[in-house]
Amino acid sequence: MIEYIRKNENQEEKQLFLGILLGGFCTMNTHSLLSMKDLSVTEIFDILNDARAFNNSKKDWQFPMQNALVANLFFEASTRTHFSFESAEYQLGCKVADFDSKTSSVTKGETLYDTVKTFESVGYNAVVIRHSQDEYFKELENINIPIINAGDGKGNHPTQCLLDLYTMYDEFNTFENLNVVICGDIEHSRVAASNKDALTRLGANVVFAGPKEWQREGYPTMDFDQAVEWADVVMMLRIQKERGAGLENMSDAEYLEKYGLNKERYSRMKEHAIIMHPAPVNRGVEIDTDLVECEKSRIFKQMENGVLVRKAVLKRAFGYPNFEGE
Ligand code: CP
Repeated sequence: MIEYIRKNENQEEKQLFLGILLGGFCTMNTHSLLSMKDLSVTEIFDILNDARAFNNSKKDWQFPMQNALVANLFFEASTRTHFSFESAEYQLGCKVADFDSKTSSVTKGETLYDTVKTFESVGYNAVVIRHSQDEYFKELENINIPIINAGDGKGNHPTQCLLDLYTMYDEFNTFENLNVVICGDIEHSRVAASNKDALTRLGANVVFAGPKEWQREGYPTMDFDQAVEWADVVMMLRIQKERGAGLENMSDAEYLEKYGLNKERYSRMKEHAIIMHPAPVNRGVEIDTDLVECEKSRIFKQMENGVLVRKAVLKRAFGYPNFEGE
């Protein structure tokens, strides 16, 4: 039934079945965003359209409600996601709580559920959560306020995926038959997982490259030297050492030469092709430092787009309808 709901493009039916399912087992808010699988293709485009509106005609749009309280619960390190959510929240007129697990009652044994339930109980209207545990949100089914997933372990990073989609669509105006290569530490990457699912459903051709040690079952591969000439989008990934990734006896320079985007590979990319990277970037490892801000790079543009997309996701979380005619 869950699979049927996820794939259903009819929004009324989707809400109805979701209501039946949730009514029976839990009360999780239907405006939560936990995984790209929660979103139909129509809903993905709705969010991208709202993000575009925030960039064009709705720059100053704010929540009509006063005291829209949002708590950012980051249990794992973050620069981009954390502070672009914060920027989006302030731009929308929210009041923001910045939670630090190290000075909270988590240090006394408080569970994730109890932390989130506490924020709900003291009046917060939505929470943004990053956590190292895959699918941590399964513990939070009895939370009633919307939860926005800012990254769970190796599982999902839906708002990163949405900003990646926004960046690609902004460039190519379509996903149909767009050739995308995602290269690097595929095994530990929630960005690779979220993009594979969404881009495939949107009609793009997605392949994966990098060390064979980090390949993932069900992820089609292509030799990177071949892929740089085939791709419209070359997306590089960081080696996630904090999740145990590592290649024995390989220096940073050797990694760049063998699997990274160096200047020689760059010279063979298609004229219109772009470089993406979710960042943080390990300069001189997965990408030559001179290429981080080169003409084809959209790495900092992705961060800019992240604020627009997160404004759209927050607007959805608070139940506001899509902007029309954008
Ligand atoms: N791309 C991304 O998630 O970056 P941060 O870890 O800095 O949030």
